[in-house]
Amino acid sequence: MPKDKAVDIELSLTTGRPKSQQGKGVRALVYVLAIAAALGGMIFGYDIGGSGGTFVMDSFKEQFHWAQDNVTVSNQRDDSLDQGMINGLFGLGAIFGALFGPLLADKYGRRPCLITASTIFIVGATVQATSNDMDQMWIGRFVGGIGIGMLSMCAPIYISEASPEHARGKLATLWQLATTIGIVVAAAANIGLEKWEPGWRLSYAGNIPFAVGLIVSMLCLPESPRWLASKDKTEELRIVLKKLRFEDEIEPEFTKLTTEVEEERHLGASTWAEMWSDSNRMRYRVVLGASLQMFQQLSGINAVMFYAPTIFTDFFSSTVSLWGNLGLQFINVLATFITIYAIDKHGRVKLLLAGGSTMVVTLAVLLTLSSLDNTLGIGIAVLGVTAVFIISFAYSWGPVVWVVCSELMPVRARGKGAGLTTASNWLFTAIVGAIFPTARAASLPLCFAFFGIVIAVGTVVVYLYLPETAHLSPLQVDSVFHDHTPKLHRTGLLGKPSAKAGDEVTPDELALEAPGRIPSSRFERRTGDYQYDSSYLSGRGTRASEP
Ligand code: BGC
Repeated sequence: MPKDKAVDIELSLTTGRPKSQQGKGVRALVYVLAIAAALGGMIFGYDIGGSGGTFVMDSFKEQFHWAQDNVTVSNQRDDSLDQGMINGLFGLGAIFGALFGPLLADKYGRRPCLITASTIFIVGATVQATSNDMDQMWIGRFVGGIGIGMLSMCAPIYISEASPEHARGKLATLWQLATTIGIVVAAAANIGLEKWEPGWRLSYAGNIPFAVGLIVSMLCLPESPRWLASKDKTEELRIVLKKLRFEDEIEPEFTKLTTEVEEERHLGASTWAEMWSDSNRMRYRVVLGASLQMFQQLSGINAVMFYAPTIFTDFFSSTVSLWGNLGLQFINVLATFITIYAIDKHGRVKLLLAGGSTMVVTLAVLLTLSSLDNTLGIGIAVLGVTAVFIISFAYSWGPVVWVVCSELMPVRARGKGAGLTTASNWLFTAIVGAIFPTARAASLPLCFAFFGIVIAVGTVVVYLYLPETAHLSPLQVDSVFHDHTPKLHRTGLLGKPSAKAGDEVTPDELALEAPGRIPSSRFERRTGDYQYDSSYLSGRGTRASEP
């Protein structure tokens, strides 16, 4: 028997897996956990894709005394104001939820936070679905918003912390995949519910089952191992690692998590003031994460997603426009699989740069097309270019911003960090939602120009300021942030080493060149293409040979 094979068999017997498999693979329960937490993304997407659909339903208009074609309405209300309040109060609630969530997530754990968030969401959705007047609807929207804000703050970090480092990106991308599926489900459900008297009530209640599913699964699934380590719950940590990791991974990860916590201990409990301090580059990280969320929203994605049917009616019939829109939303789902494949292989930075650049180009083309006369040919071109824009967003700024924000912070400050960055997402979602209809009426080409400039700036910000975080443990993330300085010529981006063997290489350059090939922790130094001395965490290493 060849020697390698014998070693593999021996390792299988002692550690449960052959050596060739170690450092790869994910246990099935981790997938279950990630899919369950991603139900939060379904709820998030369902609301994004669904709430506007009720506004065109006759039964909804009748219930709330909105203007209807060929009908005299008693006590007619201002429907634009009501629509603004329905969306605005939801966004405001979500900002509150994102900022309040960390109190629970950091103190009591990620699961209690998700369970509370889903419960608050169910209360809010029930109030909305049973509304008999607009005041009740507004209260329901605000309460439901709080639930979604907490969910969108907590679910991505829960998935990210429960995942092994080598697969963290793809598992955290399930959040975005679920969001895109939620958008399609809501849009399709609204088409089916439109002509039905209680259709709008069912539409608002439609994501309660996802929230119930999330609660039930959180009652059955384990807590985040990193959170357990941060609270010194070592016995529970060992039990949870046994469920979530292969046998050969349990002890190394247990040691790594508990040692990292020990290293962070002198910093004490995290505070809100710390988020704005220079220590450990916290302010840099918060501002960067919140800016990424801002750029994501100001790229105009939701303006395109929500108003695409209206824009298409300038060229096609309303039926063709609705189907065209549904097609775009399917494309949004499908393109997210590119990220699942690429995010751990190529890292976060390259995807953001590639997607951002194509978005700028597509927005420039949309700007030109929208300045021309409305002909069928131009309409087809607009549809095609919008599809490319959505694909570019769906494999980059859509999922990657959420993934980066879930791994950006040290564990002890993760809740607060995610709270602030998620609040930024909601703030700018609300701003775009409120301003775009008026801005579009004033000049659609100018709107595309604005979105294009914003995402161009966002792409430059990523190039200069975002270090690569793929495969890194939280302490290594601290290190890359500590080490990172903006450079006009950023090396490692094309996957080729720019220096010779023996040259000094920073973790950021290395992470960009070969995300999968860095030592997964300071306890596991690798030799071979790359070598690190014990000062790795302070940002220094040498390249042993060219890969
Ligand atoms: C954004 C949402 C957007 C969705 C579209 C998410 O990453 O945060 O605002 O509607 O992507 O797929």
